[in-house]
Amino acid sequence: MPGMGYGMEAERPGAQQWVPPAADVAGLREAVGACRGCELWADATQAVFSTGPVGARLLLVGEQPGDQEDRQGVPFVGPAGRLLREALEAAGINPDQTYLTNAVKHFRHTLRGKRRIHEKPSVGQLEACHPWLDAELAAVRPRLVVCLGATAARAVLGHDVKVGEARGLVQAAPGISAPVLVTVHPSAVVRLYGRDGWDEAFAALVADLKTALEAATER
Ligand code: URA
Ligand code: SF4
Repeated sequence: MPGMGYGMEAERPGAQQWVPPAADVAGLREAVGACRGCELWADATQAVFSTGPVGARLLLVGEQPGDQEDRQGVPFVGPAGRLLREALEAAGINPDQTYLTNAVKHFRHTLRGKRRIHEKPSVGQLEACHPWLDAELAAVRPRLVVCLGATAARAVLGHDVKVGEARGLVQAAPGISAPVLVTVHPSAVVRLYGRDGWDEAFAALVADLKTALEAATER
């Protein structure tokens, strides 16, 4: 591999050269499969781009495709995605009218036997993949961007965020034309299923999504 031993972060090209300039979402989706902007493509089944209409008011950013998303090539089709759709509906938002995407477009995982264990993307990988997100923001021009969890917030805002402190606030983000709201990742709620705290966690996610809807409607 070129650059091995020189510090992987510095040697990654980043996605920019694979992002077609001024492309619409369909053009971006068509191009993403060829991206070699970081090493994550190599162990993934396929790139997973976005779902949802281009005219969406709300653009939601997750972390990365999970196991099922990687197999199906569609984001948010696994357990976290199902919970997210339920929470959107509970907030009065039609999930099919929102634009859903991820901070990185390939599934990062490690193998444990035959099982593929989710692994969080590194900051270097978030940065490498960022040109895709930028291009999506330019093509969709949402009224508001929702970051689902700390990884999405890091990718969108460019700095570390404590979700517990930042959640539910509509904030301006330098370099982004729309305001940003941070909330939890739906997998954090999925993890509580059947335990104390699930109801509160789900309700809090729904409340944040309602705030997002109101802010997006005002603009
Ligand atoms: N979690 C995410 O962040 N994105 C997906 O697409 C699925 C699960
Ligand atoms: Fe390209 Fe992003 Fe996939 Fe890395 S994760 S190869 S930058 S699309």
